[in-house]
Amino acid sequence: MTDALATSQQNALDLLRRARVMPVLSLESAAQGVDCARALAAGGLTAIEVTLRTPAALDAIKAIRAADLGLKVGAGTILDVHQLAAAIAHGAEFIVTPGTPAALADAVLHAQVPVIPGAATASEIMALRARGFRVLKFFPAAPSGGIGALNALRGPFGDLNFCPTGGIGEDDAQAYLALPNVPCVGGSWMVRKEWLQAGDWDRVTASARRSLGA
Ligand code: 3PG
Repeated sequence: MTDALATSQQNALDLLRRARVMPVLSLESAAQGVDCARALAAGGLTAIEVTLRTPAALDAIKAIRAADLGLKVGAGTILDVHQLAAAIAHGAEFIVTPGTPAALADAVLHAQVPVIPGAATASEIMALRARGFRVLKFFPAAPSGGIGALNALRGPFGDLNFCPTGGIGEDDAQAYLALPNVPCVGGSWMVRKEWLQAGDWDRVTASARRSLGA
């Protein structure tokens, strides 16, 4: 592992430890993104993942950065090197991938911002570990075994930390967070689609606050 990657992975871990809960957002416009991010920040969240699943995602990342809301804005659902470059060019402060095939792993290795690469199996985890990654997204967490799987992964991979995402909700977020290898949990439950569409920001703020166990 290079010193640069070690530092970058430590920064990823610090970001996740501070965040505890990471909303995974699919935004319809930049303005909606700013309002939503403000509501999440009001609920105590310190990092958000804007997925590149909508046409507005890149502009939303840029607008949320410009609004200077006191939270870190990452780009998620990064599937290839082009999306990686675009996300960083639009100001993404960290990068999340759902899975990490070799070409993408090689590209994110040299990213200028912290990266949380996704993996779901022991072999995928080992491929990332061999490249020097120590902070991974475990996706899709619940269908891949959830808390039981994360506990089992501590055996061979005691030096790794995971941000489980996929199928987690308000009811079990704290149980995941009780695991020693889970500094943060991610998911979309804090921002329901109907709240987003209705601009129901009070509900978003309340949900974020509950998710932190506050
Ligand atoms: C992700 O990309 O991390 C997931 O789509 C979030 O999963 P969830 O919608 O089940 O929380």
